[in-house]
Amino acid sequence: MRSLVHIIVGARPNFMKAAPLWHALSAAEWCDLRLVHTGQHYSPEMSDVFLEEFRLPKPHYSLGVGSGSHAEQTAAVMVAYEKIAVAERPDWVVVIGDVNSTLAATLVAKKLNLRVAHLEAGLRSFDRTMPEEINRIVTDALADLLWTPSVDGDENLVREGVSPERIERVGNVMIDAFEMMRLRIEASNPLEKYGIADRKFAVVTLHRPSNVDDPARLLSLVDGILEISKRLLVVMPVHPRTRQRLITAGLIERLSLDRNMRLIEPLAYVDFMALVTRARFVVTDSGGVQEETTYLGIPCLTMRDNTERPITITEGSNLLISDASLVSAVDDVLNGPERKAGSVDLWDGRAAERIAASLHRRSSCNLR
Ligand code: UD1
Repeated sequence: MRSLVHIIVGARPNFMKAAPLWHALSAAEWCDLRLVHTGQHYSPEMSDVFLEEFRLPKPHYSLGVGSGSHAEQTAAVMVAYEKIAVAERPDWVVVIGDVNSTLAATLVAKKLNLRVAHLEAGLRSFDRTMPEEINRIVTDALADLLWTPSVDGDENLVREGVSPERIERVGNVMIDAFEMMRLRIEASNPLEKYGIADRKFAVVTLHRPSNVDDPARLLSLVDGILEISKRLLVVMPVHPRTRQRLITAGLIERLSLDRNMRLIEPLAYVDFMALVTRARFVVTDSGGVQEETTYLGIPCLTMRDNTERPITITEGSNLLISDASLVSAVDDVLNGPERKAGSVDLWDGRAAERIAASLHRRSSCNLR
């Protein structure tokens, strides 16, 4: 009998993590796959473009939940996914990362006594003001199988009382996504389009509520970004949340009118990575970008008080900064080496293979 596996995706960072796993499992004889898209992200540039680029199929189920408060969005995914989970009773529900869709699908599945596997388990910022931290803690407490990207993930889970036999360190599937697309990334040259030269520009991405939702903080960040643009050209793909907040705060034109700024729409994966790989450095609050820059040795300044990915600091090219330290950190980067070689164990482009093997192995034993 073949096992039925649901892979749940909802928001932008899920798609590139789902893709390597999807392709690894779709070659397997032992399982049937269903892609469930919650619709947490729905704009073409936040969703469809990634499905196409990564050759993911049209989702078998599109829940179309859209935006809303945390409770509205989580509840909408739960109500919609419960119907599918009841009807299909998958052998495994694979949830990814730390977004509201991850939490919602986990709650539904566990209340139906279905097995949940969490990809990217064990990451902790130890900051419970972040919605993602709440999603991580609850998902990991409930999941049957926890796939961690790095050793700190294993340690966090054990400390929280997760039994070690549920934890498997598989490495980082984001690196698989990069390796899947490497040739296309290297072949794409976006620089002419923005009038920029290799390593003579910075990429800035910011979207965390803690950075963009408070107008005073946003103003201070805009001032900081404009300081960077005095030093070199800045390309800033703007997340929908950030665009809304910049418009509401009356700040968008201060950025868009600066001649050294390129304020652009959110990019597809290949275009974004083509920019990042050629940038002098990156300023970000994204989790994935901290990992990608570590893999590539690109200096990364993370505009946050903490990170759930500490290995990108200890082993990689990441540094936590505040708006007060931004400009001096940029100057230090500009005076330092262009690239910093580093490597993290199991960030090798083969995580999806290990995950597929783990799921197969676990499918023949009863974890419940
Ligand atoms: C979500 C995740 C965050 C992840 C981020 C990546 C949670 C709690 N947060 O944050 O962890 O890093 O995705 O992008 O799950 N919007 C659009 N089009 C879209 C999606 C959103 O215009 O396709 C707008 C909506 O007006 C929405 C706002 O952006 O209100 C924020 O979207 P939401 O899904 O609530 O959270 P993100 O900030 O994207």
